[in-house]
Amino acid sequence: MTRLTDQAHERIASILKPGEIAIDATAGNGHDTCFLCSTVGPAGKVYALDIQQTALEQTADQLAQQGCFQCELICCDHGLLQEVIPEQHRNRIGAIMFNLGYLPGGDHALITQPASTLAAVKAAVNFLRPGGIMTIVAYPGHPGELEEPKKTTTG
Ligand SMILES: C[S@@+](CC[C@H](N)C(=O)[O-])C[C@H]1O[C@@H](n2cnc3c(N)ncnc32)[C@H](O)[C@@H]1O
Repeated sequence: MTRLTDQAHERIASILKPGEIAIDATAGNGHDTCFLCSTVGPAGKVYALDIQQTALEQTADQLAQQGCFQCELICCDHGLLQEVIPEQHRNRIGAIMFNLGYLPGGDHALITQPASTLAAVKAAVNFLRPGGIMTIVAYPGHPGELEEPKKTTTG
């Protein structure tokens, strides 16, 4: 069975174009951020958010290894997405990814929370361009496994 993250990548790859802007709202270890960077190419731009500095350090390492330099790393709660993404990108972002849960290899108790994720998803909708794509991957196997998918999709 194809992994959920691979399914998200496949769908995004069919929509996100070189030169576009994308957001990774949960950068983690940087796999999704690198995928977005390679999809938009050097003429594009990616904003990668994570609440943990250690996650952004992992992401920065991944980006450097893959020679991706068009990414802005932002250490903040993604509930602040509306404040940290420049207003000029409203209605212009090609893809926005949420990969919920905890940082693999990090503190499993520090997980995404429904309230801030919901605020981020609501704000993110306003940044998507017409025909753009937002993916939200929620995993079982952590304390928020039951609440997160319900609250993020129904508000
Ligand atoms: C499953 S991991 C993301 C995996 C990542 N996309 C990758 O490709 O490796 C979830 C990430 O969400 C981050 N996170 C948790 N709460 C957050 C919040 N409120 N705002 C932004 N990031 C958050 C965690 O620090 C963790 O790195």
